Amino acid sequence: MSATILLTGAAGYIASHTWLALQASGFRVVGVDNFSNSSPRVLDRLRVLAPAAIEFEQADVCDAAAMRAVFQQHKPDAVVHFAAFKAVGESVAQPLAYYRNNLGGLVNTCEVMREAGCKRMVFSSSATVYGVPERLPLREDAPTSATNPYGQTKLMGEQILRDLGVADPAWQTAILRYFNPVGAHESGRIGEDPRGTPNNLMPYVAQVAVGRREKLAVFGNDYDTPDGTGVRDYIHVCDLAEGHAAALRYLLDAPRSITVNLGTGQGYSVLDLVRAYEAASGRPVPYEIVARRPGDVAACWADPSFAAEQLGWRAVHGLARMCEDSWRWQTNNPKGFEE
Ligand code: NAD
Ligand code: WQD
Repeated sequence: MSATILLTGAAGYIASHTWLALQASGFRVVGVDNFSNSSPRVLDRLRVLAPAAIEFEQADVCDAAAMRAVFQQHKPDAVVHFAAFKAVGESVAQPLAYYRNNLGGLVNTCEVMREAGCKRMVFSSSATVYGVPERLPLREDAPTSATNPYGQTKLMGEQILRDLGVADPAWQTAILRYFNPVGAHESGRIGEDPRGTPNNLMPYVAQVAVGRREKLAVFGNDYDTPDGTGVRDYIHVCDLAEGHAAALRYLLDAPRSITVNLGTGQGYSVLDLVRAYEAASGRPVPYEIVARRPGDVAACWADPSFAAEQLGWRAVHGLARMCEDSWRWQTNNPKGFEE
């Protein structure tokens, strides 16, 4: 019988794509979300796209009784823990909300897992744990640091899982450090649906291209990069989703834990992305150069070789495809999941 995987934060951007990838790989998937940053309409879209039944429970990962009930009913073999708040600026303004949700939710989920005898977790970490990179590309053994409460929750989340593994070697965890997830499912039916003004580059560019916003503010062109704008490792969300399937196979295969980068190994500047989006959409993306955004690093990209070696996974989609899929989602759903 195939393994049952519980996805927390299942209605969110990355989890919804991962849901489809895991089902396509033969896993039974059960989703949990409290819709604090997503829409229940995602589930209707998934029902159309998914190769198997969509099993879902509305619950808060901080609620022990609710999570216990989910475990009793569905008996998962492993958990992929996506549920978290993720806005860097908001985390500076509301640190307690971030520590409660991101760390309280993780600890609570692990406690319920332990009670149920389920000790395999894939954890959504972030390249933000590398702080200001000393050298590029970033390998998993590079120094880590945090410059904001959101980043702290990822660093501390990783530490909690490592400590659990020391206390009880039956815990097997895969810590996945995502670089910059972008793009959408090729169907154009699910994608990223930010609330309010997008914080991240590609969703903002998409809204400029579709005419919902006038122009992009480019945060600085005086960085030490080829064109002066920030360089990042953008990764197609469907490649990222496949990385979770690979990580689960790794955990279910043998008793071991791993920390791994999920990136492409290729850096692109803000202006590279603007040009690629213009080409994919056939629309102009007007922009102006403004001051640097506090806390931004000049450049950040992954060394993805450890993931290739250990998980047999690598990203296959290039920047053009990321922009094409984002554009299809944006034009088919100008208001996201709102009708
Ligand atoms: P998202 O906001 O789209 O998804 C998170 C989901 O978790 C949402 O559906 C939200 O409703 C749910 N959630 C939040 N708190 C919850 C709670 N207490 N109980 C139940 N559900 C809860 O974000 P995403 O971009 O899909 O990110 C998923 C994970 O990946 C997060 O842990 C995030 O920190 C991490 N991550 C994201 C990025 C990125 O750029 N998108 C990069 C690195 C890491
Ligand atoms: C990319 C580049 C900006 C918006 C953030 C989080 C990180 C992770 C991923 C969760 C940078 C520039 C952006 C805009 C711009 N999230 N930019 N104008 O900052 O690499 O990472 O999301 O873990 O923790 O910090 O991604 O998309 O915000 O920015 O010029 O309106 O685009 O300066 O160079 P970032 P981003």
